[in-house]
Amino acid sequence: MNAEDVVYQPEKYWDRLFAPGGHASMITTVDEEGRVNAASYATTVRIVHNPVQIAFTTAAAGQTAANIKATNQFVVNLPSFERDILEKVRVVGLPFAKGVNELEKAGLTALPSQFVKAPRILECTRHFECEVVWVKEWLNRAMIVGNVLGASVHKGLVDAKGYLVWDKVKPVAFCGAPYVNMFAAGYETMEVGMPYEGPEVQAADKSVRSYFDDM
Ligand SMILES: Cc1cc2nc3c(=O)[nH]c(=O)nc-3n(C[C@H](O)[C@H](O)[C@H](O)COP(=O)(O)O)c2cc1C
Repeated sequence: MNAEDVVYQPEKYWDRLFAPGGHASMITTVDEEGRVNAASYATTVRIVHNPVQIAFTTAAAGQTAANIKATNQFVVNLPSFERDILEKVRVVGLPFAKGVNELEKAGLTALPSQFVKAPRILECTRHFECEVVWVKEWLNRAMIVGNVLGASVHKGLVDAKGYLVWDKVKPVAFCGAPYVNMFAAGYETMEVGMPYEGPEVQAADKSVRSYFDDM
């Protein structure tokens, strides 16, 4: 994959690009001196359609939380269900010391972002450059909600209307620490009917179409 093969998507397609709503990810940040940090996350969730916003939780004392509080920015990088990149997700999730660049440790390529200081990861197929909406700390965790400023994808992985080409994108989930080294994928799609005929059906349809003019 070369840098010129990663294309930014128009804002109206960001929501389609982040499908399914929850995803395994690697999140990149920089500290105040611009040093790159990356960490792996099991559950990154697209929580608002319009504007597109993404949430995840992390250790309140970790480097990701510290960098996000210092810079108000981060990038969500989504891997595909491929052995090579998933092995690198495991390396990036190791507890490296502060100041270590996990991308270098994992053999991943930093791709400069257009909208934030933290880089994207070239080998990830989709990237969401975010500014912080809010951070909430509780227990020993921090929950972070980010507003997407720009979203990019490898060429050929979305159709002309921004929908995923599912069998090429191969979205990937990681089901939490007990799964250790096991990732899951699901990329079969199915159009289903509406076995109900009340007025709520048209109302819901109208409401969705008012967001997305080209459905
Ligand atoms: C596949 C995978 C999924 C992970 N998911 C999470 C997660 O959802 N939340 C979390 O806090 N840490 C998760 N981790 C662990 C962090 O990536 C790890 O603690 C990392 O060192 C945190 O880095 P930081 O100190 O730079 O924030 C995961 C690790 C792996 C390998």
